Amino acid sequence: MNTVDFDLEAVPDKDWAELRSALRAAGYTTEAVRKLLGLSEPVEEILRNTGRYSYFYLARLAALPDSVSVLARLFLASARVPADQLGRLGGTFERLLRRTGLVAPVDGDPTLVRAAAVITELRGGYFLSDPLFENRGDEFVVHDGADRCMPPHASSLELLDSLRRPEGARSFLDVGCGSGCQSQLFAAGYQRVAGFDPGPRQVQFARANARLNGFPASYIVDRWETFPPDDRFDHVAFNTPSADAAFAFIDDGLDRLLAPSGRAQVWLVCERAEPDRDWASAVARRLRRPDRWRIEPTVHSGSPFALAPERLRERRLPAGSLLVDHPGEAAAFLAGLAARRVTEVASLTLTIHRR
Ligand SMILES: C[S@@+](CC[C@H](N)C(=O)[O-])C[C@H]1O[C@@H](n2cnc3c(N)ncnc32)[C@H](O)[C@@H]1O
Repeated sequence: MNTVDFDLEAVPDKDWAELRSALRAAGYTTEAVRKLLGLSEPVEEILRNTGRYSYFYLARLAALPDSVSVLARLFLASARVPADQLGRLGGTFERLLRRTGLVAPVDGDPTLVRAAAVITELRGGYFLSDPLFENRGDEFVVHDGADRCMPPHASSLELLDSLRRPEGARSFLDVGCGSGCQSQLFAAGYQRVAGFDPGPRQVQFARANARLNGFPASYIVDRWETFPPDDRFDHVAFNTPSADAAFAFIDDGLDRLLAPSGRAQVWLVCERAEPDRDWASAVARRLRRPDRWRIEPTVHSGSPFALAPERLRERRLPAGSLLVDHPGEAAAFLAGLAARRVTEVASLTLTIHRR
């Protein structure tokens, strides 16, 4: 499977609107997939690790006759589906998927089709993004994540759940917008919503998703180091790719982007080491000028990015940890933490105001 080999920007607005209606009419929600599979865990758990669910539940999904099963195999499990099963979606929906290029025959085997993108349903919104893996049935291929637009993921959900609109806020900035999920799920009541990401693919997806969700926002290719706001924003959100990126953003970017009485909310995976009394001091130690900001850290409990002191002492990552991309990297990761005298790791959302 290639990355997006269909032109997202060439899809007309009417096709995006038709896709939204068709997905809704077919009842394609993550909750419907959860019920179809008879799973007891919440939908967030499925979205945190779709690769695992695809691996373990594809055969069960394939045995079910429902149209949601066809959509889930194509757009959630990134699997191949017999072409004749597309008929279960109805002729109009099938033609739409083929016309937009969202679904195409598998190279070398026209009896099978596959999707060019993932479609994640989250809280009533639909988000297209790049497939991060491909389940071919007899082979599970994991793609290199670099340059790919991630689907709404564990970190996206943690930030989304901790966003709080400042009183009277009218503008929202989605820094590192990726699929656009933060702005499109949170910022419905704001008058001005903008986002940017250095990745052109991310911006293509964020724009496509805004059209799919009928959400008025503008997204451009840029980075916080250079993004020039015409006007600063009342509420700024950033699900950062690393702790270093988070601290650099707070030190060198935030002042230019945040309105005088605005609020920023920054998600990161943070380390606490021996000198740190608490998470606030762990954060302050990493900033050049912590005195400029009033920062309240919220620790995400039960996070797959957390590593409690006991586990760290045992030198063991919890099952399902997202602190490393591959279990083979765990030993080196743990050795690095020990060398830096880290006592705990947690994912935090920092809520930041000017002093
Ligand atoms: C963890 S993803 C978050 C994506 C999306 N906002 C979400 O919550 O699902 C981090 C995003 O930050 C972007 N990014 C990396 N460096 C950046 C920079 N200097 N300025 C703005 N965004 C950046 C990445 O391209 C990536 O899309």
